[in-house]
Amino acid sequence: MAMPVQWPGHVVDLRPYLDHPKSQKARAECRKAARAFETDGFVVFHDPEVDFVLCREFMKMMERFALLPDRERRKTERRDYYHQTGFTPQDAEKPGALYDDQRDPLIDLIPEGERPHPVTEPDRKMRYMFNIGLRPTEPTGKYPMLDGAPQVVPDGFPEWLDVALPWGEQLRDAGVTLLEMAAIGWNCGDPHVLSSVVEYGYNLLAPTMSDLTGDGVGPDTVFAGVHKDSSMLTVHPRATHAGLDVWTRDLRKVAPRVPAGCLLAQGGRILEWLTGGLAYRGLHQVVNRPEHMPKIELARRENRRIIRVASPEFLRPPTDYVVKPIGEFATPEAVATYEPFESGARLMEGLARRGLAAD
Ligand SMILES: [Fe+2]
Repeated sequence: MAMPVQWPGHVVDLRPYLDHPKSQKARAECRKAARAFETDGFVVFHDPEVDFVLCREFMKMMERFALLPDRERRKTERRDYYHQTGFTPQDAEKPGALYDDQRDPLIDLIPEGERPHPVTEPDRKMRYMFNIGLRPTEPTGKYPMLDGAPQVVPDGFPEWLDVALPWGEQLRDAGVTLLEMAAIGWNCGDPHVLSSVVEYGYNLLAPTMSDLTGDGVGPDTVFAGVHKDSSMLTVHPRATHAGLDVWTRDLRKVAPRVPAGCLLAQGGRILEWLTGGLAYRGLHQVVNRPEHMPKIELARRENRRIIRVASPEFLRPPTDYVVKPIGEFATPEAVATYEPFESGARLMEGLARRGLAAD
């Protein structure tokens, strides 16, 4: 397997926009953000308002949770809420890439040697979900299993929500600002045309934990099989261990270079739909890296465990929002190509397909 190139060389800086939104410098950063969504399908950016001390505290807390005995972790599992709150064990989700009929035809267009790893088993990752932002209280709307899901707190973690919720709000706010900037970069009359869709949306902080020292983990083990995201944006800091590969619009395999103190935002289906395909939604996977092996083998000999923690947050519209090209993006071609769908209905379908629905 060829190693992916590190990409991009530049980082979109939010500071000029936050300080002087109408300045030349701010406009240049807005243009950069829009271009990156078009060509790469993701943006690496720096938001001076994001607190990376809190980020580290959150990642450490999730690592500690991942090291609990399985029966302890499973007490926070909420299958009746489709795993959209609390813990999702490693064996719960059946990713689409496991099935030939759900294989993305794009994969065959990728040059051999750069193609994603074959997916032969469920992803080797655990997940935890937190609701970020307000949810409707009474009634809980059309999707009570999503909007009515309570926060779940494991025993022995009194700080759980005090750490996770402010962290999740920071990721959301960073994503909202980036969407404003992208809208300006695309010359939209209303700079809030995209950001307002998710600002009070169905947003979930959804960290994943993978045991690098687990049974059978080798240099090419797949932690997340190849897929595209269904969200509007997936916003995350650099994971504790490298492993993410992304395919850009021209089907180049790259490893997003996320410097310390920066965030990564990947465009998902909803952003693709709202922009009539202007924003690209790329295939991506998470696989072990051969260079991790010496550390993993040493840890195994010393009976220690190494957990890879990632902290993605899925930004989505409210569940009853109908997704279709909007504003200047709603050209006749875009409207003809991107058929409307209701956000909550599509999400529920995807959860059922991946085996996460309650029986
Ligand atoms: Fe993803």
